[in-house]
Amino acid sequence: MTAGLQIKNLSKNFGGLQVARDISVDLPTGARAALIGPNGAGKTTFANLVIGALQPSAGSIHLDGKDISSLSEAARVRAGIAKTFQITNLFRHLTVRDNLRLPVLERERRTSRLFGRYDDDEAIEDEIERLLSDFRLIELADQEVRSLAYGQQRLVELALSLALKPRILILDEPAAGVPSSDSHLVIDAIKRLPADLTVLVIEHDMKLVFEVASRIIVLVNGGILVEGAPNEISSDPSVRELYLGAGHA
Ligand SMILES: Nc1ncnc2c1ncn2[C@@H]1O[C@H](COP(=O)(O)OP(=O)(O)O)[C@@H](O)[C@H]1O
Ligand SMILES: [Mg+2]
Repeated sequence: MTAGLQIKNLSKNFGGLQVARDISVDLPTGARAALIGPNGAGKTTFANLVIGALQPSAGSIHLDGKDISSLSEAARVRAGIAKTFQITNLFRHLTVRDNLRLPVLERERRTSRLFGRYDDDEAIEDEIERLLSDFRLIELADQEVRSLAYGQQRLVELALSLALKPRILILDEPAAGVPSSDSHLVIDAIKRLPADLTVLVIEHDMKLVFEVASRIIVLVNGGILVEGAPNEISSDPSVRELYLGAGHA
């Protein structure tokens, strides 16, 4: 139960531009890691390489010891790698509960369980209620997504990703666009994610990063500048110069 996600010597070129440079990252099962770095550092590219939306120029990705480098994006989802749904993928005219039902049904379709239909439906509704409760969405369950505040919509996104029961969850800027008065909603939801889920958060918001991550990876120009515990990162001179000192914190 410790393998998790191992990324070895991952590189990616777009023509002459190298946007991932020999990136090696070890995310043991249950890790709470954050990837930070300036705009254009290659964070989203890295996430896309991991989920299989992009093919690397070199390197490998192992999930629980199995090489998944050649799997398609869809096969990686089935293997348990999820990137958060984007708000643009939510059905704005459906209720929160009805949005949640979709990924749960999708997951069930592909795992073909042995339950009879009635039990199945009941189990699905129970699971949706549990997700609503875990993400503090019960009181909003019957509201259409379009009527929710932006921060609450981002909670629905997180709940939708969890409905796929992933083993690895990549959150690309979960607090982007959320007013700072509501960012605690997102932070609290990340803190309550299952302990055995491996989480990588890509984020600009340093408050969020330092609250949720026990390991921080700093990416610059497609390569890892430094990696360490939050206190090591916040006191690292090269990080301070690059990032914290430059007014981005
Ligand atoms: N499809 C692409 N083709 C060419 N260049 C790209 C492509 N996608 C991203 N880039 C470039 O790769 C670099 C990293 O981008 P990105 O991964 O989006 O950075 P970040 O998420 O850290 O802001 C940028 O210089 C960007 O312009
Ligand atoms: Mg990005």
